[in-house]
Amino acid sequence: MTYAAGNPSSTNRPLALITGATSGIGAAFARRLAADGHDLVLHGRRKERLDAFAEELRSAHGVSVEVLIADLAEEVGIQAVEERLKRAQNLELLVNNAGFGIHGLFHETGVQDLEEMITVHVRASVRLARTALPAMLARSRGAVINVSSVAAFIPSAGSVNYGAVKAYLKAFSEGLHMELRGTGVRVQALCPGFTRTEFHGRRGIDTSRIPDGLWMSAESVVDESLNCLKRGRVICIPGRKYRFFVWLAKWLPQSWFRKLRSARMKRTKGQSQD
Ligand SMILES: NC(=O)c1ccc[n+]([C@@H]2O[C@H](COP(=O)([O-])OP(=O)(O)OC[C@H]3O[C@@H](n4cnc5c(N)ncnc54)[C@H](OP(=O)(O)O)[C@@H]3O)[C@@H](O)[C@H]2O)c1
Repeated sequence: MTYAAGNPSSTNRPLALITGATSGIGAAFARRLAADGHDLVLHGRRKERLDAFAEELRSAHGVSVEVLIADLAEEVGIQAVEERLKRAQNLELLVNNAGFGIHGLFHETGVQDLEEMITVHVRASVRLARTALPAMLARSRGAVINVSSVAAFIPSAGSVNYGAVKAYLKAFSEGLHMELRGTGVRVQALCPGFTRTEFHGRRGIDTSRIPDGLWMSAESVVDESLNCLKRGRVICIPGRKYRFFVWLAKWLPQSWFRKLRSARMKRTKGQSQD
């Protein structure tokens, strides 16, 4: 499933390609970057919705917006986005954001779901970063944001594969950050906590036990991400509460944390995920 439409960006404006821009954090990146004067390539699978969103951004901000439909769980979908990146001029930002959650015990989760999660979150992100970086390095400018999660910091019972792919993205970004030092090209692992998007509802993940105070808006997550990028921070954890939570997780004994997470998983049967 691939499809591309819209005006190929041939302006002098910086270009951003956002995967999973149909809703949630990806859509919030698109709104903010369009308002800041970026041309955009919006990627996702829900064509009608992306077409309408692209039109809204074009008329509101006068920027060029393309729509790229591709399923990143499929090789052909990853290749379609790679091809678009290879043709990109002025590519300033790649946001590897597309993703989904699965709740439940590992041994009860379908193998196809597990493999798709690795493909969409890890394989696609690695391939797209590898495609985008040489041109950015040649221009000594640009950035890649890999959307990870606070789940990257703590192994989670009830969403084992999710925590593992997000930890991969965090480690991947940290290593890349060291390689890119001094090149003018930046990388970030964006590690949000609970964010109000379609993420949980689409997979039937029950969030009723999550206190209101823990939720962030997609807009504030994006604001913090772009602020971190300006400051060259490789790990970006939006929200003071979540920064404290991660700090605590680093200092408390890991065995204690594992026991706590297992007990919580038994209570909630793995129903909450960030
Ligand atoms: N919401 C949270 O609490 C939270 C917390 C930490 C990290 N995150 C991460 O934030 C990222 C964005 O999620 P969100 O919260 O904004 O959820 P969302 O509203 O459900 O958006 C997910 C996006 O990913 C796209 N996507 C999913 N599977 C895809 C596939 N196989 N191929 C192509 N595109 C695919 C969707 O596109 P279509 O629907 O058009 O297919 C959609 O645009 C994810 O990586 C997620 O893991 C979310």
